[in-house]
Amino acid sequence: MLLIVSLVVLCVVTLAQLPHPCRTPEEFEGRVVTFDPDRRFFSSARFAYDDRQRRVREFEEVDVGRDVDYFDRLFLFNENKEYRVNVRTRQCNVTGLSRPWIPFGVPLDAMFNGTGDIGASGVPDEHVIVNIFNGVNDNNPYFMTVSATDCIPIQVGFFSNQTGGVLRNFFDISLGISDPEVFIPPQECST
Ligand SMILES: *[C@@H]1O[C@H](CO)[C@@H](O)[C@H](O)[C@H]1NC(C)=O
Ligand SMILES: *[C@@H]1O[C@H](CO)[C@@H](O)[C@H](O)[C@H]1NC(C)=O
Ligand SMILES: *[C@@H]1O[C@H](CO)[C@@H](O)[C@H](O)[C@H]1NC(C)=O
Repeated sequence: MLLIVSLVVLCVVTLAQLPHPCRTPEEFEGRVVTFDPDRRFFSSARFAYDDRQRRVREFEEVDVGRDVDYFDRLFLFNENKEYRVNVRTRQCNVTGLSRPWIPFGVPLDAMFNGTGDIGASGVPDEHVIVNIFNGVNDNNPYFMTVSATDCIPIQVGFFSNQTGGVLRNFFDISLGISDPEVFIPPQECST
């Protein structure tokens, strides 16, 4: 009896050690830097993310002096809607989605692709251990680098026919959503 119990305990411990599937928190916010192939520059945005209802808000940070348009975007994947406000003109367009749903967290069917150490290994506070996953979502291949302990996104890359290759780097993530209205369409879009 004791043997069976310890075998079961051993199995559970072994399973718990597998990096896959790791569970990313369902709601978080932070900053994301994305290379925009259309505009040929890195855009930096504050974002809020809700995995359960598949909603993302992105406020692009304006680079003063650069002669390009900046946007405040709300993506509601469950409604197939994208709200896009030009930060300068405050004009809003409501359209179907211009990009596929690629979660910021690790999907349950992602494949574990290895472990790495970002920064200076062995120097305290100068490194973070990460796990890398990859997979395919609606035929769009992606990979994700997440922190090994809490499965927090660090980098996500994907390819889709609509967007081409997209690489996103995440910073300053905090868990939860601080502004409950962040997923309500901007006022400019209601007229
Ligand atoms: C809205 O659509 C029009 C016409 O396609 C375009 O000229 C304009 O730049 C768009 N505005 C935004 C905020 O996307
Ligand atoms: C990790 O991904 C790369 C590129 O897709 C692939 O060549 C490699 O075999 C993968 N390794 C594992 C362990 O899945
Ligand atoms: C992307 O385009 C290629 C070539 O046209 C096609 O074979 C593939 O199915 C498309 N992928 C998706 C996800 O639509």
